[in-house]
Amino acid sequence: MALPSKVKIVEVGPRDGLQNESQLIEQADKVALINGLAEANVSHIEAGSFVNPQWVPQMADSEAVFTRIQRKPATIYSALVPNLQGYERAIQAGANEVAIFGAASESFTEKNINCSIKESLHRFRDVIKAAKADDIPVRGYVSCVVACPYEGAIDAAIVRDVSEQLLGMGCYEVSLGDTIGVATPADVNRLLKVLTSTIAIDKLAVHFHDTYGQALANIYAALQWGVTTIDSSVAGLGGCPYAKGASGNVATEDVVYLLNGLSIETGIDLEKLISVGNLISSILGKSNQSKVANAKTNR
Ligand code: HMG
Ligand code: MG
Repeated sequence: MALPSKVKIVEVGPRDGLQNESQLIEQADKVALINGLAEANVSHIEAGSFVNPQWVPQMADSEAVFTRIQRKPATIYSALVPNLQGYERAIQAGANEVAIFGAASESFTEKNINCSIKESLHRFRDVIKAAKADDIPVRGYVSCVVACPYEGAIDAAIVRDVSEQLLGMGCYEVSLGDTIGVATPADVNRLLKVLTSTIAIDKLAVHFHDTYGQALANIYAALQWGVTTIDSSVAGLGGCPYAKGASGNVATEDVVYLLNGLSIETGIDLEKLISVGNLISSILGKSNQSKVANAKTNR
């Protein structure tokens, strides 16, 4: 299939990136990160989560972060929510969109959201019902689409089943999470072959963690299937607190560089994005995980 001419980047750094940081990050730094991303023309920013603060303390101040950001009218500021309580907090804080998050692994679902897959889907139904009434779009995540940190390899048919259920309930798209970053393009091809037997490709987004350094290759494979939404995290921030050893998402800078090279439009200003990634890395006292940022900064 021909590569798409345009791709939407969903920037998950302020949520997936920061949620795993053990040192508490200043609220002003979170706000500056989100504002900087919007200034770099990132059109969709997952700006925080409204989960139980005891489970993920770093996201406990998402309400304040959402209310302090300087909003650009066309930018979508979305929030991760696990249940109706989280949804209500997100809407109160002014989230434009919410994302619910399930998994294709029973063990991961239990560890991450303390219930079975079936129970999680039941909870999500309540969120979607409320969101429909408020006219708020709902995105769905499916974690562990290739492998689970507790169960090993995952059957693509289960991923398809959970994805179909999320879409059937009213999610406008499902983001496929390689939570522990082990997939290779062969896995991506196998997975998308199974999923696209019943699901339209424009309903699927990809979310690769880069633990094994395969994320860009996997994105290229997904582009060849016609995927047009890619999740990534500035400076490659992140990991999942309930998937030990999983590294951050693929760096947004590296994805934008790849897409620029393929003449696929993202609308993102790469130079500004690199500055944002360098700033948050220095605040966190970490080296920037984006190869492109490092190459261009050290030039
Ligand atoms: P639970 O303890 O089973 O919840 O947690 P509960 O319903 O029994 O309630 C217990 C207490 O939590 C109650 O308070 C509730 O009010 C409170 P108490 O009465 O004891 O004082 N509570 C909440 N408080 C604030 N906001 C809420 C909320 N919900 C309940 N929304 C729950 C169940 C799902 C809430 C919990 O397990 C949780 O918060 N999990 C979140 C874990 C998480 O954030 N993981 C990381 C994100 S997933 C990810 O990174 C993967 C992804 O990137 C894709 C990929 O890479 O694959 C998306
Ligand atoms: Mg993730």
